[in-house]
Amino acid sequence: MHRSFLHLLIIWITFWPFSVSAEQPSRAAIATAHPLATQSGMEILEQGGNAFDAAVAITAVLAVVEPYSSGLGGGGLWLLHRATDGKQVMIDGRETAPGSASAMLYLEKNGEVKKELSLNGPLAAGIPGVPAGLVYLNEHYGRMMLAQNLAPAIRYAREGFQVTELYRKLAGFRLDVLRASKDAAAIFLHENEVPPSGHLIVQKDLANSLIRISEHGAPGFYIGELANRLIDDVRKNGGVWRSDDLAGYKIVERQPIITQYRDIRVISAPPPSSGGIVLGQALNILQNFNLERLDNITRKHVIIEAMRRAFRDRAAYLGDSDFIEIPVERLLDQDYSEGLAASIELDRSTSSEELGVFPVAEQTGTHTTHFSILDTEGNRVAATLSINLPFGSGFVPSGTGVLLNDEMDDFAIKPMQPNAYGLVGDEANRIEPRKRPLSSMTPTFLETGDHVAILGTSGGSRIISTVLLGVLDFADGNLPKSWVSIPRYHHQYLPDEVQFEQNGLTAIEQAGLRELGHTLSEKDRAYGNMQAILWWKKKNLVYAASDPRGEGEAVTSAIRPHR
Ligand code: GLY
Repeated sequence: MHRSFLHLLIIWITFWPFSVSAEQPSRAAIATAHPLATQSGMEILEQGGNAFDAAVAITAVLAVVEPYSSGLGGGGLWLLHRATDGKQVMIDGRETAPGSASAMLYLEKNGEVKKELSLNGPLAAGIPGVPAGLVYLNEHYGRMMLAQNLAPAIRYAREGFQVTELYRKLAGFRLDVLRASKDAAAIFLHENEVPPSGHLIVQKDLANSLIRISEHGAPGFYIGELANRLIDDVRKNGGVWRSDDLAGYKIVERQPIITQYRDIRVISAPPPSSGGIVLGQALNILQNFNLERLDNITRKHVIIEAMRRAFRDRAAYLGDSDFIEIPVERLLDQDYSEGLAASIELDRSTSSEELGVFPVAEQTGTHTTHFSILDTEGNRVAATLSINLPFGSGFVPSGTGVLLNDEMDDFAIKPMQPNAYGLVGDEANRIEPRKRPLSSMTPTFLETGDHVAILGTSGGSRIISTVLLGVLDFADGNLPKSWVSIPRYHHQYLPDEVQFEQNGLTAIEQAGLRELGHTLSEKDRAYGNMQAILWWKKKNLVYAASDPRGEGEAVTSAIRPHR
């Protein structure tokens, strides 16, 4: 045998086991915004559940222990990857507008929007999707009994969970709204004030509502005694829900938005979320630049300009695809992105006015939650759940324990009238009966030949830019600990300003961006709460990280699948 061939053969035999990607992860991983949710997910995996069972348990536990972020009265998007057949799908449990909803409900006689009606109290609430989502996930993808998956949530609702500093801050932000609802005040406040740290929040009514779902499935929530209670108290307090709104709620399976950024396949949320399209469009634009070669300030400038352009198209074209035609192919077309990239000048900012003139408003605070799961069979879940503003609408229908969302504010109530996040929208996102309001939730998978990543975050309109910065950090070869920690900045077309979290841009970066013509707006706090997992297939290593800005927990474990 030729000597050099023999040499090559020896090298190949020596290194062969290490050059083949693993078929299944060496460890399971869970990252969520609350330690009790992470531990409950692990508990379900230990009992023999798969990632989808763990997702049911975690969704339900977060509904109990993070009432300011998500809940049975809210909605969610669960992005799934099933290992056995590679199926990738988004389970759409987004809220829907009630059948009698119209923009008129939120307008004064003079035609002005009466903001508090779409933010506070039962008129602000869409028909919840989380209860149906729990049951659907369990039935179609899980392998455990629903009662087993809901058991940890029922336990924490009965026994209580401890108030944290984050809880106190967000309850303080929504204090007046919580006080206005008798049941919300009794459950979430202590003597009508923000409870002290360590105070136990016990939710007996919520435990009973969860038990009803575990015994009767979705009809336990959407039909019968619990549904009647929800409707009665919503209507008594100015809401418009009807029994056919609840009975008619449907989960929808949707094809994810798939784009390619260099060697990375990006799988993310389709409409009714804007997440996947805006993320994909921004990445398509950035593909036209060699970001590594740019100096730090020019790189940030280009990323900001890509965000501006992608968010402009969000305002113009996106809404619920069951109601409107969205030109998805054109928005994600490489030629179109090349044109947008060509309109970016490296030495000056584009004003958003050059792209069109619309009203401007301020945006508000933290809400929503995200969790990521990988099991040792290779099943994955990236799920983002919301009730919109912290503690949603602040309204709990009497005797139900179900805190309702204020997701009606995610519609463009009046075309080009900014919502609570300062986002504008057009006809595409106007209120129509049974329509889903446009979301920014961006649960995402990233895949290369050698890596699988699972990520997402809370953060209102800043969700998409936070995920974008995470994707770029992944592309730079960094690990989840870095994606969840890197400083954050954001542009959403309008208001025409670069928003950045406290310390998100250095003084030098701020000066450099100002010189290019950007208006900067520093927020008085950090934002976002990213939960991320990476499976490095070639080395079969699994990493998980929870955002240091939040109170979450990320763990990995060598739990093997039970079949
Ligand atoms: N409620 C916030 C969102 O869905 O984007």
